[in-house]
Amino acid sequence: MKKILITGGAGFIGSHVVRRFVNRYPQYSIINADALTYAGNLENLIDIEDKPNYFFEKADIKDKDAISTIFDKHGVTDIIHLAAESHVDRSILSPLDFVYTNVIGTVTMLEVAKEKWKNDYNGHLFYHISTDEVFGALGSEGFFTEDTRYDPHSPYSASKASSDHFVRAYFDTYGIQTIVSNCSNNYGPNHFPEKLIPLMINNLINNKPLPVYGDGKYTRDWLYVKDHAIAIDLLFHQGKAGETYNIGGFNEWKNIDLVMLLCKQMDKKLGHKPGTSKQLITYVKDRPGHDRRYAIDASKINSRFGWKPSVTFEEGLSETIDWFLTNKTWLSHVTSGEYTSYYDHQYENR
Ligand code: NAD
Ligand code: TYD
Repeated sequence: MKKILITGGAGFIGSHVVRRFVNRYPQYSIINADALTYAGNLENLIDIEDKPNYFFEKADIKDKDAISTIFDKHGVTDIIHLAAESHVDRSILSPLDFVYTNVIGTVTMLEVAKEKWKNDYNGHLFYHISTDEVFGALGSEGFFTEDTRYDPHSPYSASKASSDHFVRAYFDTYGIQTIVSNCSNNYGPNHFPEKLIPLMINNLINNKPLPVYGDGKYTRDWLYVKDHAIAIDLLFHQGKAGETYNIGGFNEWKNIDLVMLLCKQMDKKLGHKPGTSKQLITYVKDRPGHDRRYAIDASKINSRFGWKPSVTFEEGLSETIDWFLTNKTWLSHVTSGEYTSYYDHQYENR
């Protein structure tokens, strides 16, 4: 009987992973450990919070005693580790927070797993969720494969790269069974509106400028969050310990083209005259160290397990916009307080 500790389960991707595991595997216990930072929100999990196989523990992954206690209380057999500081712009403002949570926090999780599972590492899995940003930036050609050399440029990606190395080091050194997956940019319901797509949707709803960094030709590969959760489920159950898997959307968009598509869909959904929303587009000062292009080669997970995205970008984006339009209370809760001061600091005089 698996008792899976999912860290960061109150965040964007974590909440989709928790929901999927709680609903799909009633025989497992799912323990969500989350510190509830600005990005963690238990409202993301309201629909499953009363399920008998779901448990929430408010805990910081840097707190070894707290994580140890959770292990003992629930008899944790496996970990899916998502808790992290996840926003590049915030990492530029306060890099140390990223070192503490993403590096020290991950090593703390590994240390507890090493201690608690020492009798039989083979019976347990430590699955670490990472990002394609560790590979750095591509030019106009090529893709990141699992063998691409790490070359992070932002404090966020450097901290994730470091945590990935520690996870692999614990496999090599101690024999802890680990898997790492590196995924491209996610989007979907519950996405915190500091990231490109939900920030633009929120600004469109509020008739605010749409801040496009630099020349707007930076390219990202977008994946619907529910497809990422499906991939995580697959790799958790069928992935090979010691291996890395890339997950991607086969779906590259230049930021400006994406924002134009969003504007078009929003005009329709809000009943505006075509061309209304795009008038809000405003080019602003570029992000320092901005990676030009990310693109994942996801052929390993595709050929080994048959995984591929289940929705087109237009479908996923449309569902995402609908979710934000019908969850305005959620949006107003997460955009009050801390968000306002972050937004003002990040975007004023840009
Ligand atoms: P998020 O910022 O939405 O959520 C992070 C969660 O972790 C929040 O619930 C937060 O409260 C929690 N958390 C933060 N610090 C913590 C700490 N010290 N202790 C315990 N909990 C803590 O992030 P996300 O976008 O859902 O990303 C989840 C994971 O997936 C991260 O590891 C991220 O690097 C990775 N990832 C994200 C993307 C993406 O596009 N968002 C893509 C690839 C990989
Ligand atoms: P983001 O969602 O922060 O993800 P990441 O930097 O991790 O890829 O940004 C996606 C792209 O959108 C990136 O090229 C930066 C750009 N961007 C803007 O142009 N304006 C914005 O306000 C934000 C938040 C991002």
